[in-house]
Amino acid sequence: MPTVTFNGTTIECERGERLRDVLLDAEETPHNDGAQWVNCRGFGTCGTCAVEIVEGEVDDKHAREAWRLDFPPHNASSGLRLACQVRVEDDLVVRKYPGFWGQETDQSPER
Ligand code: FES
Repeated sequence: MPTVTFNGTTIECERGERLRDVLLDAEETPHNDGAQWVNCRGFGTCGTCAVEIVEGEVDDKHAREAWRLDFPPHNASSGLRLACQVRVEDDLVVRKYPGFWGQETDQSPER
């Protein structure tokens, strides 16, 4: 069973679960501030669930995720991933940056 470490909490989950669902089921969230209520609910279009995968292997981005992470406020070179599009297949350490979309990677991580 893989684990996700986020915000000082380590969560066990089923292999292949979506990262966003794992966090929400554990009463954590990949969304900052108002994005907790204003988001696309996991369709990969709003970009507010962007996180950094600090440790662990994840699949390459599919087209929708790559598309969303390639326009503002995101940019393709940030290295961020959309938690709603990432499936957990490995033990992961995940970090969330400030900003409505979690896009401020030049700031200290919030979690
Ligand atoms: S929840 Fe909207 S892109 Fe992930």
